[in-house]
Amino acid sequence: MKIMVVGGGGREHAIIKKLKENPEVSEIYALPGNGGIARDAVCVPIGAIDIPGVVKFAEENRIDYAVVAPDDPLVLGMVDALEEKGIPCFGPEKRAAIIEGSKAFSKELMRKYGIPTARYMIFDDPAKALEYVNEAPLPTVVKADGLALGKGVIIAFSREEATGAVKSIMEDKAFGSSGDKIVVEEFLEGPEVSVLSFTDGKTIVPMVSSMDHKRALDGDRGLNTGGMGTIAPNPFYTPEVAERCMNEIFLPTVRAMNAEGRTFKGCLYFGLMITKDGPKVIEYNCRFGDPESQVVLPLLETDLLTVMRAVTEERLGEIEVKFSDKKAACVIMASGGYPASYKKGFELTIPEELAETVYIAGAAEKEGKLVTSGGRVLGVTATADTLKEALSKAYEGVEKISFEGAFWRKDIGRRALNAAEEQK
Ligand code: AMP
Ligand code: GLY
Repeated sequence: MKIMVVGGGGREHAIIKKLKENPEVSEIYALPGNGGIARDAVCVPIGAIDIPGVVKFAEENRIDYAVVAPDDPLVLGMVDALEEKGIPCFGPEKRAAIIEGSKAFSKELMRKYGIPTARYMIFDDPAKALEYVNEAPLPTVVKADGLALGKGVIIAFSREEATGAVKSIMEDKAFGSSGDKIVVEEFLEGPEVSVLSFTDGKTIVPMVSSMDHKRALDGDRGLNTGGMGTIAPNPFYTPEVAERCMNEIFLPTVRAMNAEGRTFKGCLYFGLMITKDGPKVIEYNCRFGDPESQVVLPLLETDLLTVMRAVTEERLGEIEVKFSDKKAACVIMASGGYPASYKKGFELTIPEELAETVYIAGAAEKEGKLVTSGGRVLGVTATADTLKEALSKAYEGVEKISFEGAFWRKDIGRRALNAAEEQK
């Protein structure tokens, strides 16, 4: 089988490594992939949002199955375009990907179907939004409606910050047309849990839970990033919480999307906050998380391609999806300065023994060597019987890798470890 994976980050590297485990897979193409992914797949220089380019490549190369991993091509309708040519895909169609593509849509969906989330208001008129945030209780949360590279959420602790956020998103168009509308919502408190799930619109199978670490610096300080590390499972996701999530959030969301004529097939990601009033949805994503995938997929025991095809063919209910009882940790190594400006082009050395557990996010190949080419450069994942061991193995790996200006958080998993201790 010839498989094509659209995207080129750590998440795609983790997906590709997992797909390669299936002996039926003869070739994997990554569009565009990256210098590190090139060790596991054939990288093709076609951009992840180049829908005509991707479709043409798939047709010309007789691709048997396509995985569209990132949010932007999904929201733009890449799956629809591939399906039109008869290419089976993993990923939601455009009409379902809107669950991530528009926060206004997802908030209205949750309100209409009684799915727990923060109270909110939607504005398309900056004057009305400014009037509202001048009186809303603080802190208040201002979100751009559309995709914004994970940067479209501002938690405002003062009136100045709140009005500044509205002006920057709606008037200065910091995120372009993604800021034509905004959502202003209630500030929620509690531990955050990411739950990725497989769903074919009939059945939903949650994957092992995980915890991201979004801020750049230790102690959850510094700027928001795409994610600086993850652990799985998340100790705050107890069996009781899981049961409530299934009944109050997961199943109602799948049914709501069906009722709207927007059946979701693919990986539906629930960003949850476990508040004192129970679990609430912070956000939906229409795809695998990054770097959540780097801890969740290594724990998947069932063959990934088998699960993906069952989703596409709407027979997920017929197969068993198993996860290991082990724990996993992933530490992201980033370029100095990330998520603000950073330099690229530094040589990267990764010892051979780590090749299987390092997922490359931002590296290019130059004269046979790997050089840094992005903010998040790579993630070192480790699995073990305990979270503590998994973390120390991941950090041992980090110590063996070097590139100029490398930085990483030293406290990935600390909050989870403390919580796990308290639960004993
Ligand atoms: P999002 O891009 O929607 O996941 O938001 C990014 C981060 O902002 C989340 O992971 C939360 O840490 C935080 N956040 C978003 N919405 C809220 C909220 N209503 N209350 C508190 N924190 C929030
Ligand atoms: N790690 C957060 C995300 O993938 O959206």
